[in-house]
Amino acid sequence: MKLSTKHLLGIKDLCKEDIQLILDTAVNFKEVLQRPVKKVPSLRDVTIVNLFYENSTRTRISFELAEKRLSADTINFTASGSSAAKGETLLDTVNNILSMKVDMVVMRHSASGAPHFLAKHIPAAIVNAGDGINEHPTQALLDAFSMKEKFGSLEGLKVAIIGDIMHSRVALSNIYLLRKMGAEIIVAGPPTLIPKYITEAFNIKVEYNLKKALQWCDVANVLRIQLERQNQPLFSSLREYNIAYGISRSILEGLGKEITIMHPGPINRGVELDSDVADGPYSIILNQVENGVAVRMAVLYLLANREN
Ligand code: CP
Repeated sequence: MKLSTKHLLGIKDLCKEDIQLILDTAVNFKEVLQRPVKKVPSLRDVTIVNLFYENSTRTRISFELAEKRLSADTINFTASGSSAAKGETLLDTVNNILSMKVDMVVMRHSASGAPHFLAKHIPAAIVNAGDGINEHPTQALLDAFSMKEKFGSLEGLKVAIIGDIMHSRVALSNIYLLRKMGAEIIVAGPPTLIPKYITEAFNIKVEYNLKKALQWCDVANVLRIQLERQNQPLFSSLREYNIAYGISRSILEGLGKEITIMHPGPINRGVELDSDVADGPYSIILNQVENGVAVRMAVLYLLANREN
């Protein structure tokens, strides 16, 4: 089977079959990653540039590792220290890189829609590694993989997405994906961090009471407060945010049921999650990071395979 799309720009553009194919392929790559020799020759003739115009730890390392495990040749570009600082446009930068015979572009950018713009102007396949407040498709795919690994199926799974929904590309990609795969979703957080359009656009229930959201769900996907994207304060203080929406061990123990805690990282410890929750028995946060490599191997392999 092949993906129906040339690029991975967002989950919005993927059909259910594409998502299933990526998740199934990732199972095979996860098995490869358990072997003593974790490398396969699948992308031996493929050159990939990792184009990061915005900070990243997990996504950048995960893509780079996925590419190396697939035997691709890789180039790493970060905006700081490049000619972007001298005013070179995104399109000029990418066309210069592509003239050196690069096949695929993995791209993170602070501008929503930057990879979609690029896809209209260059022949190479593009993987969106996070664009502004729009989408982060491989994060949603690795989140889905991790939930499927734990629960067997996404169908009917109750997922609460909690926190800074307004500025979160992870939230949007998760909503698209979970919807397509038959999960139930609520979003929870303070009214100022939940966009008004969300109920109408997605017909999603909004819950402003943290304990009620946790009581309802099987999985809480807790999001980082993105202070760097807030032009003006949207809540009184981090301390008060923590009092109203921070998840502590005692809150979880008071639920009378076990729920799974996820977080895309980086975590604001003591703000959205206490350390004994982030590192505790309910957390699968590091499993998410581990699964990111297999999922990104699957995405790169399937996109490269589609082109052949
Ligand atoms: N989850 C995530 O995108 O983390 P990074 O910003 O470190 O890549």
